[in-house]
Amino acid sequence: MYRKGIILAGGKGTRLYPTTKALPKCLLPVYDKPMIYYSVSTLMLAGIREILVITTPSDRERVNTLLGDGKKWGIDIVYKVQDQPRGIADALIIAEEFINKTPCALMLGDNIFHGPELQSKLTHAYSSNNNTIFAYEVPDPERFGICELNAEDKVISIEEKPSVPKSNLCVTGLYFYDEHASEVASNIEPSARGELEITDVNKTYMKQENLYAQVLDQGYTWMDAGTVESFLEASLFVKSVEQQIRIKISCPEEIAFNNKWIDVDRVKMIAGDLSNSPYSDYLLNIIKN
Ligand code: TTP
Repeated sequence: MYRKGIILAGGKGTRLYPTTKALPKCLLPVYDKPMIYYSVSTLMLAGIREILVITTPSDRERVNTLLGDGKKWGIDIVYKVQDQPRGIADALIIAEEFINKTPCALMLGDNIFHGPELQSKLTHAYSSNNNTIFAYEVPDPERFGICELNAEDKVISIEEKPSVPKSNLCVTGLYFYDEHASEVASNIEPSARGELEITDVNKTYMKQENLYAQVLDQGYTWMDAGTVESFLEASLFVKSVEQQIRIKISCPEEIAFNNKWIDVDRVKMIAGDLSNSPYSDYLLNIIKN
């Protein structure tokens, strides 16, 4: 199984205005690293080495300045722009040529995942022939897209912001799809708010009886850093975990090094480039151990 990755990091970020009037949301810091590092790291943790990053036209250069072509992390990163925020499912249409009929994983640029068995859940989704969404237990399901699962974790219903929720499992911003994803997205109609909804892609796969969920229960954290409150909470969460366990959440260099995609010299070179920061010290520490 070979799977490509897509990160959707466009959008206007209106809930973070005025901060995001001049700066892309995905480049804002979540504690000690830019927000987009969390999505790149999550895809890398799944084993994905070829990633398309979708940005707004005006953010493309800045995101490229940060991530480059990915070679420093032993991966390939290419870019495409979305000229208008037409919805999350639009990413699969923009990515059609890139995907080129291979299975893919789509991740939103403002989502953060953390938890004990995350890598094994991700690699399981990577190598599965099923379409997989990641479902997270929330205390307030009325605020989210909620999925209902059968005993085999097959998705049997999805409802947006239900007043009578059938479960407390919300659909997060990470989706593993088969080679037909672009075609499925091309066949859905814009919703009442004028967007191509990822929920409609998921419902198409659900109706084909091929949509499963990896459940992230109490031991896991999922955050969408898109509001003023959740943006700050994400930083506080990362700070608190990193200080307690002394391991960084979503450090692409560490994942690449552990996966043997880059060697000691490469890590040293990156640390040198970032010198004078605690992040650089951390990288030097990884190779010391
Ligand atoms: P949202 O948070 O739903 O949208 P947004 O970032 O534009 O924020 P706001 O609601 O505050 O205006 O999107 C989630 C992620 O998906 C985020 O990283 C932006 C991205 N996105 C796009 O790149 N294009 C789109 O058309 C949409 C809807 C989202």
